[in-house]
Amino acid sequence: MRLGLKGLFNQRNQGNGFVEEIDKQTLPKHIAIITDGNGRWAKKRGLPRTAGHAAGMRRVRETIRAANDLGIEVLTFYSFSTENWKRPKEEVDYLMKLPVEFLKTDLQELVDRNVKVQMLGEKRQTPNFTQEALTEFEDKTKHNTGMILNFAINYGSRDEILSMIQKIIDDVELGNISKSDISEQIVSERLLTKGLPDPDLVIRSSGEIRISNFLLWQIAYSEFWFTEALWPDFSKEMFFQAIKEYQRRSRRYGSL
Ligand code: FPP
Repeated sequence: MRLGLKGLFNQRNQGNGFVEEIDKQTLPKHIAIITDGNGRWAKKRGLPRTAGHAAGMRRVRETIRAANDLGIEVLTFYSFSTENWKRPKEEVDYLMKLPVEFLKTDLQELVDRNVKVQMLGEKRQTPNFTQEALTEFEDKTKHNTGMILNFAINYGSRDEILSMIQKIIDDVELGNISKSDISEQIVSERLLTKGLPDPDLVIRSSGEIRISNFLLWQIAYSEFWFTEALWPDFSKEMFFQAIKEYQRRSRRYGSL
């Protein structure tokens, strides 16, 4: 399977992207990114995995700036999955502190850029300091009208789908809707991404070609772009390259 997919990592995917070549009229509205490879990046350098996450955090910042400068409407990062709790405690603790660090270093810039920070996932299961940082991000940016920046933290798509099903059953039992009302819209409105456009483009770094329980409903018609670059090596140029590649594809949504 992997060999057959080798073409995904062709020259076009790996080349440099020039922002001038991007058509501003056909930008993807929503880009979702699976930032994978921090651990391997650190290992290759004989560093602790946490150093990989710190380097990954810097790439997150650069990508936010690039997306915002370009005029992307929604940018989503898969920062911590419901499965990531299984990692060693030291690593989990470090990852939970990242939003606190990010708040100190980046909140003001995001406010100045008119970025609205939101999160996807169950915040209440994260440590208090993480919750506080995330809440402060949301509160201080809630009136911003520019790019929406989503951090998926303690997020799992199957959990999200299960709670959507429970919400629909509740609504049917309460008589708010009837079974025949259940539509794609009814489902979308009960997901954590309520009100957001589905991702047009999904990017995954580190050479892994899988979706890992990320936005399963929402990616039905997304375009995918994979790169072998480990996330801490993901450059602005690669981001532009992904967008250029997206613009070359013809999206048919099942029709001709
Ligand atoms: C996956 O790489 C990466 C993560 C689980 C963490 C990603 C987090 C960031 C990039 C920072 C997010 C920033 C904020 C503000 C929340 P991996 O550790 O699975 O890498 P590996 O597959 O090489 O081991």
